Amino acid sequence: MLDIAQVRTVLSDVYDLAPSATLANEMKDTFARMDRVISPPDWAIYAPYVRAINALKKERNAVILGHNYMTPEIYHGVSDFVGDSLQLAIKASEVEEDVIVQAGVHFMAETSKILSPGKTVLMPDMDAGCSLAESITAEGIDEMRAKYPGAPVVSYVNTTAEVKAASDICCTSSNALQIVNAMESDTVIMTPDQYLAQNVANESHKNVVYWPGSCIVHEQYTAQDLRDFREWNPGTRLIAHPECPPDVVAEADYSGSTSGIIKYVHDEKPEKAMLITECSMASNIADELPEVDFVGPCNMCPYMKKITLEKILYALHTMEGQVEVAEDVAEKARKSVQAMIDLSRKLGI
Ligand code: 13P
Ligand code: SF4
Repeated sequence: MLDIAQVRTVLSDVYDLAPSATLANEMKDTFARMDRVISPPDWAIYAPYVRAINALKKERNAVILGHNYMTPEIYHGVSDFVGDSLQLAIKASEVEEDVIVQAGVHFMAETSKILSPGKTVLMPDMDAGCSLAESITAEGIDEMRAKYPGAPVVSYVNTTAEVKAASDICCTSSNALQIVNAMESDTVIMTPDQYLAQNVANESHKNVVYWPGSCIVHEQYTAQDLRDFREWNPGTRLIAHPECPPDVVAEADYSGSTSGIIKYVHDEKPEKAMLITECSMASNIADELPEVDFVGPCNMCPYMKKITLEKILYALHTMEGQVEVAEDVAEKARKSVQAMIDLSRKLGI
């Protein structure tokens, strides 16, 4: 576990990280991308970190890949590329810089390392896990294969490298249905998200069998929550991530990956929107969509929230937190991830 007191001691010896209203004002163009959701005093705290990280990125020839669930100061302040899991995986296979800082969770950093084995991949906090990735091991894949002989295994990217290596192909929330439908077999094994699998099964002609994992953020929503919300806030567009249970997705007006959700809100510009997913999603797009009123409760992912500006700066400064994947595992995992990327490209996703 990272010792935050030590992180602060190391950083304060090298960088001037005191809150600065002057610097905050100098960096007002960056602030303009998030001033609907971050207060000026908070920006005065973040600005010195943003400046230090962006300068150090150049020195280290590094790029920051930020997931859509990062907080606005990370998403808008220091990320070079933002996106959903599929977009970040594709980007990781294309970057030219020597160092990738993964502003996201551990399985995303592993995916980057699998796709770019020659790069240094930094994880600002190794404890940023994922309840889905923790729900299954490679032995679980063997169990499913024994139960459904001959059925292909489609594993969500929210899995460890070992699980990817034991699978036939990966999927993300933006291509799961198309990947499952493209399998030759009538029965398809999906791991580890039971709800994504059920949501896919509802739209697919395949017999989808699944592992009983779930996301601790999305499983909390209930269909009754959505019905209550509609009653209290008539006219609100309800937009859910497919990691939510199927009855929640059925109550929603739209369901899609994190980038699918962002695109939907951009295209539709509803007067009021409730994003049934992680809290930072609405914050990150609030400034670019001033006409949309983001209402309603959201759920926080405790893993994603482990990533902070302070930890990103520390990782880049010390080059600690390097993600490694054993080459024999990486080679097999790469086949599953690459098969997904190739099929997605072929299908135009
Ligand atoms: P996306 O691929 O939709 O970004 O989802 C990743 C994730 O972890 C959602 O909980
Ligand atoms: Fe994992 Fe859920 Fe957090 Fe996404 S939101 S990283 S699926 S725990």
